[in-house]
Amino acid sequence: MIKGNFPVEKFKALTTPFYYYDMKVLRDTITVLKNQADKHHFTVHYAIKANFNTNILKEIKQADFGADCVSGGEIQLAIKAGINPSKIVFAGVGKADWEINLALEHQIFCFNVESIPELEVINQLAAAKDIKARIALRINPNVMVNTHHYITTGLNENKFGINMMDLDELIKLLPLLKNIELIGLHFHIGSQITDLNSFKGLAIRINEIQHYFYSRNIKIQHINVGGGLGIDYEHPNHIPIPDFESYFNVFSEHLILISKQQLHFELGRSIVGQCGSLVSRVLYIKQGVSKKFMILDAGMTDLIRPAFYQAFHRIENISSEEEPEEYDVVGPICESSDTFIKNYAVNASKRGDFIVLRSAGAYGEVMVSHYNSRKSPDIHTSDEFGL
Ligand code: LLP
Repeated sequence: MIKGNFPVEKFKALTTPFYYYDMKVLRDTITVLKNQADKHHFTVHYAIKANFNTNILKEIKQADFGADCVSGGEIQLAIKAGINPSKIVFAGVGKADWEINLALEHQIFCFNVESIPELEVINQLAAAKDIKARIALRINPNVMVNTHHYITTGLNENKFGINMMDLDELIKLLPLLKNIELIGLHFHIGSQITDLNSFKGLAIRINEIQHYFYSRNIKIQHINVGGGLGIDYEHPNHIPIPDFESYFNVFSEHLILISKQQLHFELGRSIVGQCGSLVSRVLYIKQGVSKKFMILDAGMTDLIRPAFYQAFHRIENISSEEEPEEYDVVGPICESSDTFIKNYAVNASKRGDFIVLRSAGAYGEVMVSHYNSRKSPDIHTSDEFGL
């Protein structure tokens, strides 16, 4: 069984569960992404929601990426990490007044606006400060993608974005909003998308939408296509770095930019997903009627994705080379849904073995909860061990 590269001996001194970030994987991923983006002159905003651990944000800042934030808290974190506010975009359907004010005070690059009422509030708050707010309209492109229904966002009946049918009204309103400057169009069709045809569909749709604005003589300086590029949860050891080259090629081939328009991306999972693992110890092997349960000291409070989205995370026993056996791998939380996977083959395991849940760098640590009065998992990085 092929396994990831983990300092098992060093782990023995540590309390489990903990998140382990392989900084080499992160740095290699960032290097490839940066080279590919620079080749096309594309701008990348890291979607902070995927992981706002300070170790990670340090690398993001060093790579000179911008940030995609969805709350005042995330804006504060991005700025604290040294990311220039002129590279921050702020999205979200429910921006509170204090969050809008914070973004205005820092003169962030752009608000991604999700509704007409929000546009009016931003205009009002910007007027009170006697400044202009730069905004992009988040338009719902109604592109179908093949991913889990909890994480699709680009369809009409979604709470996100402005529907095409509201555009006429919005265009009439815009000249009246004196403290708003329209600079961009924003799109996001969902997350964990591995079929690049979905992005081709988005690009083609954007070309049509661009025509709407162009024909009305409305100048748009940038197009933001959001994030969503998926990672290979099945093969974190073989394919640790997503195919950014093909992903960007889809846009450069199919998206028609007008005059000097800039193309922006908001990538989260594809940057940080593969560098993180949740490391736990086996507490008990429990013989059921017809199956064996492997009970870990990590549970859904530490990594909620399997319980919440039926998401798959590869599981490896890094302490055992025994023949594989099938287990239901579960956590200690008082919920049946606290199951990482059923009938899964892992090297025969015993109490105390280290079990790693792979590809947990995105939407892992940031979604930790304290249900059952659980404490947050510790954090360790490969840098600590000189790896
Ligand atoms: N831009 C917008 C407007 C978004 O809503 C998202 C993610 C992103 C960018 C970044 O998408 P990414 O490149 O990471 O796919 N918790 C879920 C994923 C939720 C994604 C929410 N939006 C999960 O664990 O799969």
